[in-house]
Amino acid sequence: MTRHLYFSQAKEQLDFEKLKSANDTVMWQSPSNIALVKYWGKYGFQFPRNPSLSFTLSESHTTTKVEYLFKEEAAHSEHVRLFFHNEESPKFLKKIEQFFHSIEEFFPFIPYLSFTIFSENSFPHSAGIASSASSMSALALCLCTIERRLMNTLQDEEEFYHKASFIARIGSGSASRSVYPGLALWGAHDDFADSSQVYAIPYYEQFDPVFLTFRDAVLIVDAKEKSVSSRAGHALMEDNIFAPVRYQQAENHLITLVEALKSGDLTNFGNIVEEEALSLHALMMTSKPSYLLMKPATLEIINKLRAWRNKTGIPAFFTLDAGPNVHLLYPQQYTNQVEDFIKMELAQHCENGRWIKDHVGKGPVQLK
Ligand code: PMV
Repeated sequence: MTRHLYFSQAKEQLDFEKLKSANDTVMWQSPSNIALVKYWGKYGFQFPRNPSLSFTLSESHTTTKVEYLFKEEAAHSEHVRLFFHNEESPKFLKKIEQFFHSIEEFFPFIPYLSFTIFSENSFPHSAGIASSASSMSALALCLCTIERRLMNTLQDEEEFYHKASFIARIGSGSASRSVYPGLALWGAHDDFADSSQVYAIPYYEQFDPVFLTFRDAVLIVDAKEKSVSSRAGHALMEDNIFAPVRYQQAENHLITLVEALKSGDLTNFGNIVEEEALSLHALMMTSKPSYLLMKPATLEIINKLRAWRNKTGIPAFFTLDAGPNVHLLYPQQYTNQVEDFIKMELAQHCENGRWIKDHVGKGPVQLK
């Protein structure tokens, strides 16, 4: 598959009369997500080595406002300004400029507009919540809305979200899944007819409603920057001797996880989700160079959780991203018990006792 088959647009499709009067604002709020089956390893133009499935979160979101204005000269540089929490951010600006450059073939209006972007996260930096997922999906949704307004394309809802997911994916793979409510699936799998390598799809199949009530308590073990970037981590998979087995494991896990989602089998759900998290970390440990991304406190939390679950029978499970912080997933009906347990037993292992409450959410919202 070549990148050009999807969503490419020729400059000729631009309506210059409309473009010349462009002077407007668009704003989206988009959530982060937490993967149940993890994406780890990629190739080509940001294609995943295996399919992944995630819960869309709710409270952890990015709000992005884009002011766009026609400019006489079509040029690539100096047409983007970026404010992160109202402060100009040169570090993120460089990334965004590269991103705009790489998506120009999908949005031919980009060189003709100047953009002022205001972005804010609802959650603290490096808290173990993927800010790239919420920020890149929010920006992608803004750009698709600009396309809708200036080119009269993307009027069909499904196509709009497919393209938003496609564009978000180019910014950060996991961001492709953040444009949908509930559960999202990214990566082609034979068992899912509409699944795709280039964008995520909403996972609407019949599943037990208990999963839409799921809560995610994010236990912040260490709020420092990750010791290995996602980009470097994905690249390490290319030489990892376990990679082929891992990709097969993820495909199988997707099938068994979906069975558990359909039947409401919480035990199997938890087994698969925890195995996914530990597999991700095992891959990092067996990469060259090797990374140990868990901290002693991560293990303390996991051990305590497992012992408490065995004792109480409460279906609370952990998952991890590529870092030391623990996401504790559980059905809403157990909120009081789980929160008491966190306060009594787990918060002491968190940096400054910090943890964040989130839950499965309804997806992005357009604010302007
Ligand atoms: O989206 P990226 O390139 O930052 O990769 C994210 C990978 C994991 O968060 C570890 C797993 C996932 O599927 O979200």
